[in-house]
Amino acid sequence: MYAITNLLALTALCGAAAASPTPAASASSAFPTATSVVAGLHAVAKTAGKLYFGTATDNPELTDTPYVAILDDNMMFGQITAANSMKWDATEPEQGVFTFDQGDVIRNLAQGNGQLLRGHNCVWHEQLPDWVAFGTFTSDELISIVENHCGTLVGHYTGQMYAWDVINEAFNDDGTFQQDIFFNTTGTAYIPAALNAARATDPNAKLYINEFNIEFAGPKATALQNLIKELQSEGVPIDGVGFQSHFIVGEVPTDLVANFQTFVDLDVEFAITELDVRMTLPETDALLAQQKKDYETVINACVAFPECVGVTVWDFTDTFSWVPGAFPGQGAACPWDDNLVRKPAFDGIVTGFQSA
Ligand code: G3I
Repeated sequence: MYAITNLLALTALCGAAAASPTPAASASSAFPTATSVVAGLHAVAKTAGKLYFGTATDNPELTDTPYVAILDDNMMFGQITAANSMKWDATEPEQGVFTFDQGDVIRNLAQGNGQLLRGHNCVWHEQLPDWVAFGTFTSDELISIVENHCGTLVGHYTGQMYAWDVINEAFNDDGTFQQDIFFNTTGTAYIPAALNAARATDPNAKLYINEFNIEFAGPKATALQNLIKELQSEGVPIDGVGFQSHFIVGEVPTDLVANFQTFVDLDVEFAITELDVRMTLPETDALLAQQKKDYETVINACVAFPECVGVTVWDFTDTFSWVPGAFPGQGAACPWDDNLVRKPAFDGIVTGFQSA
């Protein structure tokens, strides 16, 4: 135990040393690396008036000691999102049987480090257990299942979450609703049911709808805005919008700021919830330079609004990025490379916050 503690302390020291202008690990990278000298990304986000800069993480990654040394640094990350372990398949694999063990590991890590938590998520058409995805329910039955799931999940973490992604990815890109078990069975009734159940069990958690491809004006952004107006007119709690922000190098929407404004006009806060900026591999110096600009552009857009509470990257190292698994031939989307070396994108984030 003593030896392990010393090893962890040594690792933490190595992590701290990487704050020098030429990070020690940079020798392992053939590409340009970050040069910013800052206490951490959360530290610069706080100075810019934000609540947090955070990252997603996942339980299997927590055996990687050098990774965890960076994750645990609460000057670097002031907020954590569980990438998978609070989803429906992980938390209610059988009807009425709730398992929070894996989610609690992430919760305990964040609490131990003094990091905020975002809950992800209550209702999504992916990562559902079969009993939900392939169930046969009446509308009333499924509404009751949604209420029980969201109420129990959110209730388990009452007082511990800054925010919950209560509804995740409810729309198609053309602005129609996802034809999933929830919509096909209940119409849109599952949405207020989930939000009301969440509010009832954790009155202080901010309740979000989280989406992708709403970062630019178009039918999907409009559809979400219409939903928010409808919920508000019916007195259903909705506090925030999560802009996932899974971007492609060189293709950050040019109307990001204008589009954020159209949501802010609805009197909701927002967050960048799953930021990454992927590229077609192989990496080049030019792609990394553009990626740096892209990260800076996104952070700048958040800085432009007091209503943008914070930014979360969807894991911080390419080692654990979801991108190569989902988009073969693409990757290198994160601010740290797969040797845990800080990329130019890290500097882009710093510069973005320091423009405040
Ligand atoms: O749980 C099984 C495990 O039993 C099995 O051994 C293992 C073998 O591959 O697979 C495990 O499931 C994987 C799961 O992550 C948990 O690790 C799935 O194959 C894999 O597809 C799944 O990917 C997740 C993805 O959501 C699912 O769509 C990613 O890790 C996660 O980062 C990603 O996150 C989503 C957000 O929740 C919503 N927005 C988009 C974002 C990226 O897709």
